[in-house]
Amino acid sequence: MKAVTWHGKRDVRVDTVPDPTIVDPTDVIVRITSSGICGSDLHLYEVLGPFMTEGDILGHEPMGVVEEVGPDVTELKPGDRVVVPFNVSCGTCFMCGNGLHSQCETTQVRDRGMGAALFCYTKLYGQVPGGQAELLRVPFGNTLPIKVPEGPPDDRFVYLSDVLPTAWQAVDYAGIPDGGTVVVLGLGPIGDMSTRIAMHKGARAIGVDLVPERLERARANGVETIDLREHDKDLAELIRGMTDGRGPDSVIDAVGMEAHGAPGAKLAHQMTSLLPDAIAEKAMERVGVDRLHALHLAIDIVRRGGTISLSGVYGGMADPLPMLTMFDKQIQLRMGQANVRRWVDDIMPLLLDGDPLGVDGFATHKVPLDQAPDAYATFQKKQDGAIKILLRP
Ligand SMILES: NC(=O)c1ccc[n+]([C@@H]2O[C@H](COP(=O)([O-])OP(=O)(O)OC[C@H]3O[C@@H](n4cnc5c(N)ncnc54)[C@H](O)[C@@H]3O)[C@@H](O)[C@H]2O)c1
Ligand SMILES: [Zn+2]
Ligand SMILES: [Zn+2]
Repeated sequence: MKAVTWHGKRDVRVDTVPDPTIVDPTDVIVRITSSGICGSDLHLYEVLGPFMTEGDILGHEPMGVVEEVGPDVTELKPGDRVVVPFNVSCGTCFMCGNGLHSQCETTQVRDRGMGAALFCYTKLYGQVPGGQAELLRVPFGNTLPIKVPEGPPDDRFVYLSDVLPTAWQAVDYAGIPDGGTVVVLGLGPIGDMSTRIAMHKGARAIGVDLVPERLERARANGVETIDLREHDKDLAELIRGMTDGRGPDSVIDAVGMEAHGAPGAKLAHQMTSLLPDAIAEKAMERVGVDRLHALHLAIDIVRRGGTISLSGVYGGMADPLPMLTMFDKQIQLRMGQANVRRWVDDIMPLLLDGDPLGVDGFATHKVPLDQAPDAYATFQKKQDGAIKILLRP
């Protein structure tokens, strides 16, 4: 089959690789029809190289049609239409039973001290082959894939793999009080969708980014937008001015590691990318090479007693945080990988009864698998109005 594979920093290719096969009796093989490129994939593309192996198959936002099922699969049959969550979660352990699928005890990557395995997310997360490919092996066929109805286009359902549950969890964890205000830092797919969900639930949403078309799209949806390029120095003051001098009830950080505005960390990133992998891996884990700009902003912006919800992915161990400010402001902080399966029943009604979140028009680009290398480059450079790209194997 054809698959998008990682070969090095900013080097992804479309290779011909062996078809996946049924390994465990509850596996299913899915023929992929749509597969998203995610902001998280950009971390692999740019800074997480030390944790990748040449030839790793990329992608964790796939959907498609069941092609083959293992002998113990009772809940699916060939021909069923399914979306595959990015967590590899069993659905039956203690953690899954508590809605914490990203901590699944059956798939935790214990030798790395990490939570549940993820499709294509580095050795830290189990090095599981990903879904930017023609076919994907999916374990836990009775509990993991999300069965979706025929009819609406793939666009309607594909974001159940990641964007929708991640944004849903970001908003839930933000604990916005009734009629309250949330500031969303970053208006990529996750931030944009978070504003839509927050407003759908009745909140006031203020969005911050520095890419004109991302700001424009959010503004068109009713978000009050702020261009970071114009308010780099006075952002927190400006936002306090918009929120009774107090700051918003909640802040969602949908930026993560590659935040604009942290030059020291940028240098560290570049240095680790020059080190041999084994040393760089240690450096990434132990020494803080994160770009915490967005998190520092969030701590500054949120009102006293408010909540910060982190959905942007961070890595590293040694990043100093302003503990005095966090303690004194009585900030509540919630974070983590999305527990995809946890939120599906909450989100599904919004996909079956019309399209109140506007998912049908969410993708800005749909391209064949062959064009993945260009699509990655375009998405990373934020060129050509690229906000969300779907590959069509
Ligand atoms: N928690 C999860 O389960 C989960 C799931 C998916 C994605 N993520 C993470 O969420 C983050 C966002 O994902 P995405 O797909 O929307 O990525 P993206 O890279 O498309 O979006 C990030 C946006 O942040 C903007 N930005 C950069 N620096 C900023 C700053 N200082 N202030 C405000 N905006 C800034 C960028 O211009 C960009 O539009 C990434 O870190 C990704 O890894 C987490
Ligand atoms: Zn993703
Ligand atoms: Zn589990």
